Amino acid sequence: MSTDARRHAPAAARNREALAAALRPFLPARGLLLEIASGSGEHALHLAQRFPDLTVQPSDPDPGARASIAAWRAHAGPPNLLPPLDLDATEAAPFPRAEAVLCVNMIHIAPWAACLGLIGKSAAALPPGAPLLLYGPFFRAGVETAPSNLAFDADLRARNPAWGVRALEAVAEAAAPAFALEAVVEMPANNLTLCFRRLRSGPRPRRTADREDSHAFP
Ligand SMILES: C[S@@+](CC[C@H](N)C(=O)[O-])C[C@H]1O[C@@H](n2cnc3c(N)ncnc32)[C@H](O)[C@@H]1O
Repeated sequence: MSTDARRHAPAAARNREALAAALRPFLPARGLLLEIASGSGEHALHLAQRFPDLTVQPSDPDPGARASIAAWRAHAGPPNLLPPLDLDATEAAPFPRAEAVLCVNMIHIAPWAACLGLIGKSAAALPPGAPLLLYGPFFRAGVETAPSNLAFDADLRARNPAWGVRALEAVAEAAAPAFALEAVVEMPANNLTLCFRRLRSGPRPRRTADREDSHAFP
């Protein structure tokens, strides 16, 4: 396998250590960590190196991203890093069963339906007690928004009106009653790590309305 397809995401290189540290308290000791929207694959590679007792399953719907993930795996991947899957949060195909799901920097740069799909398919893939972990920028009620996140939101919406920084409360409402929001971890550069825990009841999260729109689960 050629390693030429490797992509370098500067933000991923910057935040991967902080991400691994933030995830550590919530990840299971072993089992499958399914990453949705792996992008370059640098987070998946780093997490596989940091958590050798977990099996890391990267994925992305973009063929170029999957080529990058596969190239990083060929270049430096430990045995617990699996080949990338073609998974799209908005499509009907289910996610594989997993002990944890991680999604970094996707739900603001995709339509709200992708957030709903991520939550609904994670609910079906995870056993009770398992974590759904989200990382990215969020608006929070009662918390002043950083100017950088306001500018980022405006830029996203200018690029695509269906995109935009999501409200933490809207995501938590969409996740209920299948998930409980267990923890909100402040991260560098005004990002958050959210840990949602799969509940015993509530097989499918309910529909919810965001500021923008509302969609049925795919
Ligand atoms: C900003 S990049 C983030 C990549 C990586 N997680 C990171 O933080 O470096 C957004 C990624 O989301 C993926 N994506 C967009 N829509 C998606 C969807 N509906 N389901 C799954 N992934 C999606 C894109 O292909 C892209 O790789």
